[in-house]
Amino acid sequence: MLEYTEKKTLEYLNGMPKSMRKNKGQFFTSVKTAKFMVEMFNISHCNNKISVLDPGAGTGILSVAFIEYVSQNFLNVTISLTCYETDLTVLPVLKDNLLYVKHILGDRFEYNILECDYILSQRFEPEVGELRFESEKKYDFIISNPPYLKIMRNDPAAKAMDKVVHGAPNLYFLFTSMSLFNLKQHGEMVYIIPRSWTSGAYFKSFRQYLLSEGKIKHIHLFTSRNKVFDAEQVLQEIIIIKIEKTQTKPEFVKISSTDGSNDFDNVRSLNAPYDVVVSGGDSYVYLPIDEKDIKTIQKINIYHSTLTDSGLKMKTGIVVDFRQEKELRKSPGEHILPLFYSQHIRNGRVNHYPSGKEYDWIADSKSGLIQKNKNYVFIKRFTAKEEPRRLQCGVFSPGDFLEYEYIGTQNKINFIDKTDGSEMDSMTTYGVYALLNSTLFDSYYRILNGSTQVNSTEVNNMPFPPASIIKIIGEKVLVSDDLSTDNCDRIIAEVAYGTCD
Ligand SMILES: C[S@@+](CC[C@H](N)C(=O)[O-])C[C@H]1O[C@@H](n2cnc3c(N)ncnc32)[C@H](O)[C@@H]1O
Repeated sequence: MLEYTEKKTLEYLNGMPKSMRKNKGQFFTSVKTAKFMVEMFNISHCNNKISVLDPGAGTGILSVAFIEYVSQNFLNVTISLTCYETDLTVLPVLKDNLLYVKHILGDRFEYNILECDYILSQRFEPEVGELRFESEKKYDFIISNPPYLKIMRNDPAAKAMDKVVHGAPNLYFLFTSMSLFNLKQHGEMVYIIPRSWTSGAYFKSFRQYLLSEGKIKHIHLFTSRNKVFDAEQVLQEIIIIKIEKTQTKPEFVKISSTDGSNDFDNVRSLNAPYDVVVSGGDSYVYLPIDEKDIKTIQKINIYHSTLTDSGLKMKTGIVVDFRQEKELRKSPGEHILPLFYSQHIRNGRVNHYPSGKEYDWIADSKSGLIQKNKNYVFIKRFTAKEEPRRLQCGVFSPGDFLEYEYIGTQNKINFIDKTDGSEMDSMTTYGVYALLNSTLFDSYYRILNGSTQVNSTEVNNMPFPPASIIKIIGEKVLVSDDLSTDNCDRIIAEVAYGTCD
Protein backbone atom coordinates (compact mmCIF):
# COMPACT_ATOMS: atom_id res chain seq x y z
CA MET A 1 0.00 0.00 0.00
CA LEU A 2 2.79 2.39 0.96
CA GLU A 3 4.71 1.51 -2.18
CA TYR A 4 1.67 2.36 -4.30
CA THR A 5 1.22 5.69 -2.47
CA GLU A 6 4.90 6.54 -2.83
CA LYS A 7 4.77 5.85 -6.58
CA LYS A 8 1.70 8.08 -6.99
CA THR A 9 3.32 10.80 -4.86
CA LEU A 10 6.43 10.81 -7.05
CA GLU A 11 4.29 11.05 -10.18
CA TYR A 12 2.48 14.05 -8.65
CA LEU A 13 5.77 15.66 -7.63
CA ASN A 14 7.17 15.31 -11.13
CA GLY A 15 4.21 17.15 -12.60
CA MET A 16 4.03 19.97 -10.07
CA PRO A 17 6.65 22.75 -9.89
CA LYS A 18 8.22 23.20 -6.45
CA SER A 19 7.42 26.93 -6.48
CA MET A 20 3.68 26.19 -6.75
CA ARG A 21 3.77 23.68 -3.90
CA LYS A 22 5.79 26.11 -1.76
CA ASN A 23 3.01 28.70 -1.97
CA LYS A 24 0.63 26.14 -0.46
CA GLY A 25 3.10 25.02 2.23
CA GLN A 26 3.19 21.66 0.48
CA PHE A 27 6.26 19.57 1.36
CA PHE A 28 5.83 15.80 1.35
CA THR A 29 7.14 13.39 3.96
CA SER A 30 9.48 10.63 2.79
CA VAL A 31 8.43 7.01 3.29
CA LYS A 32 11.28 6.43 5.76
CA THR A 33 10.27 9.39 7.91
CA ALA A 34 6.58 8.44 7.69
CA LYS A 35 7.36 4.90 8.93
CA PHE A 36 9.47 6.27 11.77
CA MET A 37 6.68 8.65 12.82
CA VAL A 38 4.11 5.86 12.86
CA GLU A 39 6.28 3.69 15.08
CA MET A 40 6.40 6.48 17.67
CA PHE A 41 2.73 5.81 18.55
CA ASN A 42 1.79 3.47 21.36
CA ILE A 43 -0.95 1.49 19.67
CA SER A 44 -0.88 -1.72 21.71
CA HIS A 45 -3.19 -0.46 24.48
CA CYS A 46 -5.97 0.50 22.06
CA ASN A 47 -9.48 -0.74 21.34
CA ASN A 48 -10.21 -2.86 18.31
CA LYS A 49 -11.59 0.14 16.46
CA ILE A 50 -9.41 3.20 16.28
CA SER A 51 -10.00 6.64 14.81
CA VAL A 52 -7.17 8.44 13.05
CA LEU A 53 -6.86 11.98 11.71
CA ASP A 54 -4.41 13.28 9.09
CA PRO A 55 -4.88 17.07 8.69
CA GLY A 56 -3.25 18.43 5.54
CA ALA A 57 -2.98 14.91 4.15
CA GLY A 58 -1.37 15.71 0.78
CA THR A 59 -1.15 12.42 -1.13
CA GLY A 60 -1.83 10.49 2.09
CA ILE A 61 1.65 9.16 2.73
CA LEU A 62 1.35 9.49 6.53
CA SER A 63 -2.13 7.95 6.61
CA VAL A 64 -1.07 5.00 4.50
CA ALA A 65 2.10 4.44 6.56
CA PHE A 66 -0.10 4.36 9.67
CA ILE A 67 -2.66 2.00 8.14
CA GLU A 68 0.01 -0.35 6.78
CA TYR A 69 1.75 -0.54 10.16
CA VAL A 70 -1.44 -1.13 12.14
CA SER A 71 -2.96 -3.60 9.67
CA GLN A 72 0.22 -5.69 9.67
CA ASN A 73 0.90 -5.61 13.42
CA PHE A 74 -2.57 -5.51 15.00
CA LEU A 75 -4.67 -7.98 13.05
CA ASN A 76 -7.93 -7.43 14.96
CA VAL A 77 -7.95 -3.67 14.71
CA THR A 78 -10.18 -1.78 12.31
CA ILE A 79 -9.31 1.77 11.34
CA SER A 80 -11.50 4.78 10.70
CA LEU A 81 -9.46 7.50 8.95
CA THR A 82 -10.31 11.17 8.42
CA CYS A 83 -8.19 13.34 6.12
CA TYR A 84 -8.42 17.08 5.60
CA GLU A 85 -7.04 18.46 2.33
CA THR A 86 -7.89 21.67 0.47
CA ASP A 87 -5.66 21.50 -2.59
CA LEU A 88 -7.68 20.53 -5.65
CA THR A 89 -4.63 19.29 -7.55
CA VAL A 90 -3.49 16.81 -4.89
CA LEU A 91 -6.98 15.62 -3.90
CA PRO A 92 -7.39 13.17 -6.84
CA VAL A 93 -4.09 11.51 -5.84
CA LEU A 94 -5.22 11.24 -2.21
CA LYS A 95 -8.56 9.75 -3.26
CA ASP A 96 -6.89 7.23 -5.54
CA ASN A 97 -4.42 6.16 -2.83
CA LEU A 98 -7.09 5.65 -0.18
CA LEU A 99 -9.35 3.79 -2.61
CA TYR A 100 -6.45 1.43 -3.27
CA VAL A 101 -6.07 0.83 0.49
CA LYS A 102 -9.80 0.20 0.79
CA HIS A 103 -9.61 -2.43 -1.96
CA ILE A 104 -6.92 -4.23 -0.03
CA LEU A 105 -8.28 -3.96 3.52
CA GLY A 106 -12.03 -4.10 2.87
CA ASP A 107 -14.06 -3.99 6.10
CA ARG A 108 -11.04 -3.34 8.26
CA PHE A 109 -10.78 0.18 6.89
CA GLU A 110 -13.14 3.10 6.38
CA TYR A 111 -12.24 6.66 5.44
CA ASN A 112 -13.55 10.12 4.97
CA ILE A 113 -11.83 12.88 3.01
CA LEU A 114 -12.93 16.35 4.12
CA GLU A 115 -12.24 18.77 1.31
CA CYS A 116 -12.35 21.79 3.57
CA ASP A 117 -10.06 24.04 5.58
CA TYR A 118 -8.87 22.22 8.69
CA ILE A 119 -8.80 25.41 10.76
CA LEU A 120 -11.80 27.34 9.50
CA SER A 121 -14.20 24.41 9.39
CA GLN A 122 -13.96 23.90 13.15
CA ARG A 123 -14.51 25.95 16.28
CA PHE A 124 -11.42 26.07 18.47
CA GLU A 125 -12.76 26.72 21.96
CA PRO A 126 -10.53 24.90 24.38
CA GLU A 127 -11.20 27.17 27.34
CA VAL A 128 -14.86 26.16 27.37
CA GLY A 129 -13.54 22.98 28.95
CA GLU A 130 -12.57 20.38 26.44
CA LEU A 131 -14.38 17.61 28.24
CA ARG A 132 -17.65 19.48 28.04
CA PHE A 133 -17.25 20.85 24.54
CA GLU A 134 -17.96 17.82 22.45
CA SER A 135 -19.33 19.19 19.20
CA GLU A 136 -16.06 18.62 17.32
CA LYS A 137 -15.12 15.03 16.60
CA LYS A 138 -12.28 13.62 18.72
CA TYR A 139 -9.68 11.07 17.58
CA ASP A 140 -7.46 8.38 19.13
CA PHE A 141 -4.43 9.18 16.94
CA ILE A 142 -3.43 12.19 14.86
CA ILE A 143 -0.50 12.22 12.50
CA SER A 144 0.54 15.24 10.47
CA ASN A 145 3.09 17.13 8.49
CA PRO A 146 1.22 20.43 8.55
CA PRO A 147 1.63 23.26 6.03
CA TYR A 148 4.51 25.56 6.94
CA LEU A 149 3.14 28.94 5.93
CA LYS A 150 3.44 32.34 7.56
CA ILE A 151 0.12 34.14 7.62
CA MET A 152 -0.97 37.67 8.59
CA ARG A 153 -2.31 38.44 12.06
CA ASN A 154 -5.61 39.37 10.48
CA ASP A 155 -5.85 36.16 8.42
CA PRO A 156 -9.16 34.41 9.27
CA ALA A 157 -7.22 31.33 10.48
CA ALA A 158 -5.10 33.42 12.90
CA LYS A 159 -8.21 35.23 14.11
CA ALA A 160 -10.09 31.97 14.61
CA MET A 161 -7.30 30.70 16.87
CA ASP A 162 -6.15 33.94 18.52
CA LYS A 163 -5.75 32.16 21.86
CA VAL A 164 -2.56 30.50 20.64
CA VAL A 165 -1.25 33.45 18.61
CA HIS A 166 1.12 35.82 20.40
CA GLY A 167 3.32 37.16 17.60
CA ALA A 168 3.64 36.27 13.91
CA PRO A 169 1.30 33.34 13.18
CA ASN A 170 2.21 30.31 11.12
CA LEU A 171 -0.19 27.62 9.94
CA TYR A 172 2.03 24.90 11.38
CA PHE A 173 1.34 25.76 15.00
CA LEU A 174 -2.34 26.50 14.39
CA PHE A 175 -2.64 22.94 12.99
CA THR A 176 -0.73 21.54 15.97
CA SER A 177 -3.04 23.31 18.44
CA MET A 178 -6.17 22.29 16.59
CA SER A 179 -5.01 18.68 16.60
CA LEU A 180 -4.45 18.67 20.34
CA PHE A 181 -7.98 20.04 20.61
CA ASN A 182 -9.19 17.23 18.32
CA LEU A 183 -7.58 14.46 20.39
CA LYS A 184 -9.47 12.28 22.86
CA GLN A 185 -8.11 12.30 26.42
CA HIS A 186 -5.01 10.05 26.40
CA GLY A 187 -4.98 10.11 22.63
CA GLU A 188 -1.63 10.64 20.91
CA MET A 189 -0.45 12.92 18.13
CA VAL A 190 2.79 12.78 16.16
CA TYR A 191 3.70 15.94 14.26
CA ILE A 192 6.71 16.82 12.15
CA ILE A 193 7.29 20.56 12.53
CA PRO A 194 9.99 23.25 12.66
CA ARG A 195 11.83 23.70 15.92
CA SER A 196 11.18 27.43 16.19
CA TRP A 197 8.28 27.18 18.69
CA THR A 198 10.44 25.65 21.44
CA SER A 199 11.67 29.06 22.63
CA GLY A 200 11.01 32.75 22.08
CA ALA A 201 8.17 35.09 22.91
CA TYR A 202 6.29 34.66 19.62
CA PHE A 203 5.26 31.14 20.52
CA LYS A 204 4.47 31.73 24.18
CA SER A 205 0.68 31.34 23.90
CA PHE A 206 1.07 28.24 21.72
CA ARG A 207 3.49 26.63 24.20
CA GLN A 208 1.18 27.44 27.07
CA TYR A 209 -1.74 25.71 25.36
CA LEU A 210 0.30 22.75 24.14
CA LEU A 211 1.99 22.07 27.46
CA SER A 212 -1.04 22.56 29.65
CA GLU A 213 -3.49 20.40 27.65
CA GLY A 214 -0.90 17.87 26.53
CA LYS A 215 2.45 16.49 27.58
CA ILE A 216 5.48 15.80 25.41
CA LYS A 217 6.36 12.10 25.40
CA HIS A 218 9.00 11.91 22.68
CA ILE A 219 11.02 14.36 20.60
CA HIS A 220 13.10 13.29 17.62
CA LEU A 221 15.87 15.59 16.42
CA PHE A 222 17.78 15.67 13.19
CA THR A 223 21.28 16.70 14.16
CA SER A 224 22.25 17.82 10.71
CA ARG A 225 20.08 20.47 9.16
CA ASN A 226 18.67 20.27 5.62
CA LYS A 227 18.55 16.50 5.46
CA VAL A 228 14.91 16.02 6.39
CA PHE A 229 13.22 17.33 3.30
CA ASP A 230 16.32 16.79 1.18
CA ALA A 231 14.65 17.17 -2.16
CA GLU A 232 12.54 20.04 -0.91
CA GLN A 233 15.32 22.30 0.44
CA VAL A 234 13.40 23.25 3.56
CA LEU A 235 15.80 25.33 5.59
CA GLN A 236 14.13 25.33 8.99
CA GLU A 237 15.41 22.93 11.57
CA ILE A 238 12.79 20.18 11.76
CA ILE A 239 11.78 18.00 14.70
CA ILE A 240 9.20 15.29 15.29
CA ILE A 241 7.14 15.47 18.48
CA LYS A 242 4.78 13.04 20.10
CA ILE A 243 2.23 14.60 22.45
CA GLU A 244 -0.26 12.76 24.64
CA LYS A 245 -3.41 14.60 25.63
CA THR A 246 -3.15 14.37 29.39
CA GLN A 247 -2.71 16.53 32.47
CA THR A 248 -0.34 14.01 34.01
CA LYS A 249 3.27 14.98 33.66
CA PRO A 250 5.49 12.04 32.72
CA GLU A 251 8.76 11.58 34.57
CA PHE A 252 10.84 11.51 31.39
CA VAL A 253 10.72 12.62 27.78
CA LYS A 254 12.38 10.31 25.28
CA ILE A 255 14.76 12.30 23.10
CA SER A 256 16.06 10.51 20.06
CA SER A 257 18.23 11.80 17.27
CA THR A 258 19.57 10.83 13.87
CA ASP A 259 21.78 12.68 11.42
CA GLY A 260 19.07 13.03 8.83
CA SER A 261 15.95 11.30 7.63
CA ASN A 262 17.67 8.62 5.57
CA ASP A 263 19.35 6.85 8.40
CA PHE A 264 16.79 5.74 10.95
CA ASP A 265 18.88 2.59 11.52
CA ASN A 266 21.25 4.50 13.79
CA VAL A 267 18.96 6.20 16.27
CA ARG A 268 20.55 7.54 19.46
CA SER A 269 18.19 8.10 22.36
CA LEU A 270 18.05 9.10 25.99
CA ASN A 271 15.43 9.74 28.64
CA ALA A 272 15.56 13.33 29.86
CA PRO A 273 13.67 14.41 33.00
CA TYR A 274 10.45 16.20 31.96
CA ASP A 275 11.32 19.17 34.19
CA VAL A 276 14.62 19.57 32.36
CA VAL A 277 13.00 19.50 28.93
CA VAL A 278 10.12 21.82 29.86
CA SER A 279 11.35 24.53 32.19
CA GLY A 280 11.71 28.24 32.78
CA GLY A 281 9.03 30.83 33.42
CA ASP A 282 7.95 30.90 29.78
CA SER A 283 7.96 27.09 29.53
CA TYR A 284 10.72 26.80 27.01
CA VAL A 285 11.29 23.36 25.53
CA TYR A 286 14.95 22.36 25.72
CA LEU A 287 16.37 19.76 23.37
CA PRO A 288 19.29 18.01 25.08
CA ILE A 289 20.92 15.27 23.03
CA ASP A 290 23.16 13.77 25.70
CA GLU A 291 23.77 13.59 29.45
CA LYS A 292 26.14 16.55 29.21
CA ASP A 293 23.35 18.73 27.83
CA ILE A 294 21.03 17.61 30.63
CA LYS A 295 23.66 18.60 33.22
CA THR A 296 24.10 22.00 31.54
CA ILE A 297 20.36 22.72 31.76
CA GLN A 298 20.19 21.53 35.37
CA LYS A 299 23.19 23.64 36.32
CA ILE A 300 21.78 26.84 34.91
CA ASN A 301 18.25 26.19 36.09
CA ILE A 302 19.34 26.39 39.75
CA TYR A 303 19.14 30.15 39.23
CA HIS A 304 15.70 31.67 39.33
CA SER A 305 16.60 35.27 38.60
CA THR A 306 17.25 36.81 35.19
CA LEU A 307 19.37 39.68 33.87
CA THR A 308 16.25 41.84 34.04
CA ASP A 309 15.88 41.05 37.76
CA SER A 310 19.35 42.55 38.25
CA GLY A 311 18.29 45.75 36.47
CA LEU A 312 20.12 44.73 33.29
CA LYS A 313 18.91 44.19 29.77
CA MET A 314 20.17 43.00 26.42
CA LYS A 315 19.26 45.54 23.75
CA THR A 316 19.84 45.59 20.01
CA GLY A 317 22.29 48.02 18.36
CA ILE A 318 20.59 51.17 17.12
CA VAL A 319 21.97 51.98 13.67
CA VAL A 320 20.49 50.23 10.64
CA ASP A 321 23.38 51.34 8.46
CA PHE A 322 21.78 51.00 5.03
CA ARG A 323 18.91 53.24 6.17
CA GLN A 324 21.14 55.94 7.62
CA GLU A 325 23.53 56.62 4.79
CA LYS A 326 23.18 60.39 5.29
CA GLU A 327 24.67 60.17 8.78
CA LEU A 328 27.41 57.62 8.02
CA ARG A 329 31.02 58.78 7.52
CA LYS A 330 34.19 57.17 6.17
CA SER A 331 36.57 59.00 8.52
CA PRO A 332 36.64 60.77 11.89
CA GLY A 333 36.19 64.53 12.33
CA GLU A 334 34.30 67.16 14.25
CA HIS A 335 30.90 65.91 15.48
CA ILE A 336 31.76 62.45 14.18
CA LEU A 337 31.58 59.38 16.48
CA PRO A 338 32.95 55.85 16.20
CA LEU A 339 30.37 53.37 14.89
CA PHE A 340 30.78 49.82 16.16
CA TYR A 341 30.06 46.65 14.17
CA SER A 342 30.26 43.02 15.27
CA GLN A 343 33.66 42.87 13.53
CA HIS A 344 34.96 45.13 16.32
CA ILE A 345 34.33 42.42 18.95
CA ARG A 346 37.59 40.47 19.26
CA ASN A 347 39.26 38.41 21.99
CA GLY A 348 36.86 39.56 24.68
CA ARG A 349 37.36 43.26 23.98
CA VAL A 350 35.82 45.90 21.71
CA ASN A 351 38.25 47.84 19.53
CA HIS A 352 37.69 50.28 16.70
CA TYR A 353 40.19 49.12 14.09
CA PRO A 354 38.93 49.48 10.50
CA SER A 355 36.12 46.93 10.26
CA GLY A 356 36.37 46.43 6.51
CA LYS A 357 33.02 48.19 6.13
CA GLU A 358 32.67 51.33 4.07
CA TYR A 359 31.64 53.53 7.01
CA ASP A 360 33.17 53.17 10.47
CA TRP A 361 31.95 56.56 11.70
CA ILE A 362 28.64 58.33 12.27
CA ALA A 363 27.63 62.00 12.65
CA ASP A 364 26.23 63.00 16.04
CA SER A 365 23.35 64.96 14.43
CA LYS A 366 20.51 62.60 15.40
CA SER A 367 20.21 61.85 19.13
CA GLY A 368 18.09 58.76 18.41
CA LEU A 369 21.01 57.11 16.60
CA ILE A 370 23.68 57.46 19.27
CA GLN A 371 24.20 56.27 22.84
CA LYS A 372 26.32 57.24 25.84
CA ASN A 373 29.96 56.15 25.90
CA LYS A 374 29.91 53.99 29.03
CA ASN A 375 30.37 50.39 30.18
CA TYR A 376 28.65 47.78 28.01
CA VAL A 377 29.04 44.15 27.05
CA PHE A 378 28.71 43.77 23.26
CA ILE A 379 27.47 40.48 21.80
CA LYS A 380 27.39 39.47 18.14
CA ARG A 381 23.79 38.97 16.99
CA PHE A 382 24.69 36.61 14.15
CA THR A 383 27.26 33.85 13.97
CA ALA A 384 27.85 31.27 11.25
CA LYS A 385 26.56 27.74 11.88
CA GLU A 386 30.08 26.30 11.71
CA GLU A 387 31.53 28.73 14.28
CA PRO A 388 32.32 27.03 17.58
CA ARG A 389 30.40 29.53 19.76
CA ARG A 390 26.93 31.07 19.54
CA LEU A 391 27.57 33.69 22.25
CA GLN A 392 30.52 35.81 21.14
CA CYS A 393 31.02 38.86 23.28
CA GLY A 394 33.45 41.58 24.35
CA VAL A 395 33.75 44.18 27.08
CA PHE A 396 33.27 47.73 25.81
CA SER A 397 35.46 50.05 27.93
CA PRO A 398 34.57 53.75 27.63
CA GLY A 399 38.11 54.66 28.70
CA ASP A 400 39.39 53.31 25.37
CA PHE A 401 37.44 56.06 23.56
CA LEU A 402 37.85 58.92 26.04
CA GLU A 403 37.41 61.73 23.53
CA TYR A 404 33.83 60.73 22.78
CA GLU A 405 30.78 61.38 24.94
CA TYR A 406 28.64 59.27 22.63
CA ILE A 407 29.13 56.29 20.29
CA GLY A 408 27.11 54.42 17.65
CA THR A 409 26.26 50.69 17.45
CA GLN A 410 25.10 48.90 14.32
CA ASN A 411 22.04 46.70 14.75
CA LYS A 412 23.97 43.45 14.18
CA ILE A 413 25.36 43.94 17.68
CA ASN A 414 23.42 43.30 20.88
CA PHE A 415 24.60 45.07 24.01
CA ILE A 416 23.98 44.71 27.72
CA ASP A 417 23.01 47.93 29.47
CA LYS A 418 21.21 48.95 32.65
CA THR A 419 17.44 48.87 32.19
CA ASP A 420 17.13 52.46 33.48
CA GLY A 421 19.91 53.74 31.17
CA SER A 422 22.38 54.52 33.99
CA GLU A 423 25.88 53.06 33.82
CA MET A 424 26.79 49.48 34.82
CA ASP A 425 29.68 49.36 37.28
CA SER A 426 32.84 47.65 36.01
CA MET A 427 32.49 44.55 38.19
CA THR A 428 29.00 43.88 36.87
CA THR A 429 30.20 44.49 33.30
CA TYR A 430 33.01 41.95 33.64
CA GLY A 431 30.73 39.52 35.51
CA VAL A 432 28.11 39.56 32.74
CA TYR A 433 30.90 39.20 30.17
CA ALA A 434 32.36 36.19 31.99
CA LEU A 435 28.99 34.42 32.19
CA LEU A 436 28.14 35.01 28.52
CA ASN A 437 31.68 34.05 27.51
CA SER A 438 31.62 30.80 29.51
CA THR A 439 31.29 27.33 28.01
CA LEU A 440 28.31 26.68 30.28
CA PHE A 441 26.16 29.58 29.06
CA ASP A 442 27.14 29.06 25.42
CA SER A 443 26.14 25.38 25.62
CA TYR A 444 22.91 26.33 27.36
CA TYR A 445 22.04 28.87 24.69
CA ARG A 446 22.64 26.32 21.93
CA ILE A 447 20.35 23.78 23.57
CA LEU A 448 17.69 26.45 23.92
CA ASN A 449 17.88 27.97 20.49
CA GLY A 450 18.72 26.16 17.28
CA SER A 451 19.18 29.29 15.23
CA THR A 452 22.41 31.22 14.72
CA GLN A 453 20.82 34.46 15.87
CA VAL A 454 21.22 35.67 19.46
CA ASN A 455 17.78 36.75 20.54
CA SER A 456 17.48 39.49 23.20
CA THR A 457 14.22 38.24 24.69
CA GLU A 458 15.74 34.81 25.24
CA VAL A 459 18.90 36.13 26.85
CA ASN A 460 16.88 38.50 29.05
CA ASN A 461 14.77 35.57 30.23
CA MET A 462 17.66 33.13 30.70
CA PRO A 463 18.32 32.08 34.30
CA PHE A 464 21.24 34.17 35.57
CA PRO A 465 23.04 34.34 38.91
CA PRO A 466 21.86 37.25 41.09
CA ALA A 467 23.56 40.68 40.95
CA SER A 468 25.78 40.00 43.99
CA ILE A 469 27.28 36.86 42.39
CA ILE A 470 27.70 38.55 39.00
CA LYS A 471 29.79 41.22 40.76
CA ILE A 472 32.02 38.72 42.56
CA ILE A 473 32.66 36.91 39.27
CA GLY A 474 33.44 40.25 37.59
CA GLU A 475 35.83 41.32 40.30
CA LYS A 476 37.80 38.08 39.98
CA VAL A 477 37.98 38.39 36.20
CA LEU A 478 39.13 42.02 36.50
CA VAL A 479 41.84 41.15 39.03
CA SER A 480 43.05 38.21 36.93
CA ASP A 481 43.19 40.40 33.80
CA ASP A 482 42.43 37.26 31.76
CA LEU A 483 39.31 37.32 29.55
CA SER A 484 39.76 33.82 28.12
CA THR A 485 36.89 31.33 28.21
CA ASP A 486 39.04 28.94 30.29
CA ASN A 487 39.52 31.58 32.97
CA CYS A 488 35.81 32.57 32.91
CA ASP A 489 34.84 28.87 33.24
CA ARG A 490 37.19 28.40 36.19
CA ILE A 491 35.97 31.52 38.06
CA ILE A 492 32.29 30.70 37.44
CA ALA A 493 32.76 27.11 38.65
CA GLU A 494 34.39 28.42 41.83
CA VAL A 495 32.09 31.38 42.59
CA ALA A 496 28.73 30.28 41.22
CA TYR A 497 28.95 26.54 41.86
CA GLY A 498 31.49 26.26 44.66
CA THR A 499 33.61 23.81 42.67
CA CYS A 500 36.97 23.97 40.98
CA ASP A 501 36.18 21.74 37.98
C1 LIG B 1 3.38 19.99 4.31
S1 LIG B 1 2.13 19.28 3.29
C2 LIG B 1 2.14 17.64 3.89
C3 LIG B 1 1.41 16.66 3.07
C4 LIG B 1 1.40 15.25 3.64
N1 LIG B 1 0.76 15.20 4.93
C5 LIG B 1 2.81 14.69 3.76
O1 LIG B 1 3.26 14.53 4.87
O2 LIG B 1 3.45 14.43 2.74
C6 LIG B 1 0.67 20.05 3.96
C7 LIG B 1 -0.62 19.82 3.20
O3 LIG B 1 -1.65 20.59 3.83
C8 LIG B 1 -2.53 21.11 2.84
N2 LIG B 1 -3.19 22.29 3.43
C9 LIG B 1 -2.71 23.56 3.48
N3 LIG B 1 -3.57 24.35 4.15
C10 LIG B 1 -4.60 23.57 4.52
C11 LIG B 1 -5.80 23.82 5.26
N4 LIG B 1 -6.06 25.02 5.73
N5 LIG B 1 -6.65 22.79 5.48
C12 LIG B 1 -6.38 21.54 5.00
N6 LIG B 1 -5.26 21.26 4.30
C13 LIG B 1 -4.38 22.25 4.07
C14 LIG B 1 -1.63 21.41 1.66
O4 LIG B 1 -2.33 21.43 0.45
C15 LIG B 1 -0.63 20.26 1.75
O5 LIG B 1 -1.00 19.19 0.93
